[in-house]
Amino acid sequence: MKTGVAYYPEHWDEWRWETDLQLMSKAGIGLVRLAEFAWSKLEPEEGRFEFEWLDRILALSHRFGIDVLLGTPTATPPAWLHAKHPDLYTVDEWGHTLGFGTRFQRCLNHPVMREHSRRITEAMARHFAGNPAVIGWQTDNEFTQNTCYCDGCAKAFQEWLKRKFGSLDALNSRWGTAFWSQTYTAWHQIPLPKQAKCGNAHNPSLLLEFRRFQSQATVEFQREQVRILRKHCPNNFITHNFMGLHNSMDYYDLAEDLDFVSWDNYPITQWDQDTSKASLAHDVMRGIKGRNFWVMEEQCGHGGWTVVGPRPKPGQVRAWAWQAVASGANTIVFFRWRSCLHGTEQFWHGVVGHDGIPRRRYREVAQFAGELAAMAEKLDESVVRNEVAILDDYEQHYAFQIQPQAEGLGVWEQVRRFHVSLRAMGVGVDVVPLDINLDRYRVVILPGWPIMTEEAAIRLRAYVANGGTLIVNPRTGLKNADNVCHEDVLPVFLGELLGVSVDDYDALADSCVPVISQNGEVFNASVWTDALLVDGAEILARYQDRCFSGEPAVTKNRHGRGVAYYFGTCGETPFYKSFLTEILAEAKVPMKQDLPEGVGMYWREGKNQRFLFLINEQSAPVDVPIDAGMTPLFGEVDGKTATLPAHGVALLAENG
Ligand code: GAL
Repeated sequence: MKTGVAYYPEHWDEWRWETDLQLMSKAGIGLVRLAEFAWSKLEPEEGRFEFEWLDRILALSHRFGIDVLLGTPTATPPAWLHAKHPDLYTVDEWGHTLGFGTRFQRCLNHPVMREHSRRITEAMARHFAGNPAVIGWQTDNEFTQNTCYCDGCAKAFQEWLKRKFGSLDALNSRWGTAFWSQTYTAWHQIPLPKQAKCGNAHNPSLLLEFRRFQSQATVEFQREQVRILRKHCPNNFITHNFMGLHNSMDYYDLAEDLDFVSWDNYPITQWDQDTSKASLAHDVMRGIKGRNFWVMEEQCGHGGWTVVGPRPKPGQVRAWAWQAVASGANTIVFFRWRSCLHGTEQFWHGVVGHDGIPRRRYREVAQFAGELAAMAEKLDESVVRNEVAILDDYEQHYAFQIQPQAEGLGVWEQVRRFHVSLRAMGVGVDVVPLDINLDRYRVVILPGWPIMTEEAAIRLRAYVANGGTLIVNPRTGLKNADNVCHEDVLPVFLGELLGVSVDDYDALADSCVPVISQNGEVFNASVWTDALLVDGAEILARYQDRCFSGEPAVTKNRHGRGVAYYFGTCGETPFYKSFLTEILAEAKVPMKQDLPEGVGMYWREGKNQRFLFLINEQSAPVDVPIDAGMTPLFGEVDGKTATLPAHGVALLAENG
């Protein structure tokens, strides 16, 4: 377990490097990430590599006992490459060609881009293979789907479709191109889904296939780099810095070639200040490979490009870093070491500021680094193990991005309603794909999954038949894998398991509908209402108003040795807490009902011991009642109570 920083020695005079490394070393920083945007410094002109400056900083880092992670620099191809091949630029969905001057301006499908990506990766891998300072690699930077609509992409997309569908007859029939006279008689007629004046009204089947195609383009681009790095640097690990809840591409596919997932955690930016998302993002990132991860960029000060974002409150950076560790992170790399003097990100604040003098941010990072180092031996091998899972699948994200249907139905919006409620009950959550063994979970939540195949339904039915508890949400089972509506009764393939069918439905827009539970509690239902016909299921709640007054809203059905719930609507936290309390109690999942609001509670399990992290996410102190049998490792704990100051953290070990 280590604390690290993103370091850009190429931005600074060389005389300063030693001072920087000395300061890092004093703060307990044991890792630097280097070079992920340094292509023009590493290869100033085609074929002329200049690695000596990097050799020197590696040697210096090694002298200070600081490990190095190298990035492949392909997120920022140099000016000479674009000047020579102007067609490498990404073309956006409006047909505009991106020019030079920012980053990510390259088409990942372009054969010349691929060739140069392999070339620079190979040159670096050969040169740095066996360097004792280097422990691993980061591919590129923050991959997204290849968002490009160039002519090369059009041809490659048509080839992809030919391979997948085999014949135009098959494609025309599966996509239903009789609609709006779109029948294709040659592959080259099939367009990319560019924006048009009438809005993006393309066929949903084409749109879904395009997302798959561009997601896979990124996966293959990375795969070529990974192959080269594995060949020359077999002893180094390979990772990539993912983006938490970003959902433009299939992160499961991207992670397949990597040793572990890393991600970039910025809880407070100028664009978004909802700090509660970080906990879900950690759970999503851990679930991608079902194992511990790194935070490759952890916020350490105010973010900002043109505008200075809010400064994290005193203690908040440390609390975020501990929240990451509590959620399964094994190394935290702060972004960035020093605020830069030049370039777009002048207001993205580093561990030290523009003046390079260690001040408050440095002291807070050093405090965290010291604490982590002291706990590392205990926590090192520990993992996160939960009994509740939320299922995820990027195709469902695409389906809602293509057709949102109603405001509030997006996958993360649905997932967050459950996640926030479960976290408030002290219940840890894994976010996982459907193709793992679900039997180790007592409760599994399926957000509304419009795309439902028979194979997916078979897995869900088997899970419940074996004794699992499943919660299914509205808009499930609407479409097939071509993004075409099923012609059967909703929820298709799951009606028998749930003991219900959907008789009618309504999108609520901004309004709410009261829902009354069996025991008389009334909640606000929002976003969507399914009016249900029950066929064997028990009715747990009914609508009290609007079109479906008196009709079933929430149901429960026994199936085999398990039980399947259908939530025909969405609600607020009290709605979920109330139903989940009963569901979790019946499934024997422990909860902490006396957890104060705004306190995060997380467990990591070691070989012989469990560790409890309590994190105060608020700016006011709070007392947290502690169960018997816990020994404090740090934080103010008097036996029965942990007293957490604003953004305070306590770590306790369960007595073995
Ligand atoms: C991340 C990116 C970094 C830096 C940072 C601050 O998304 O990976 O390179 O740009 O944001 O803007």
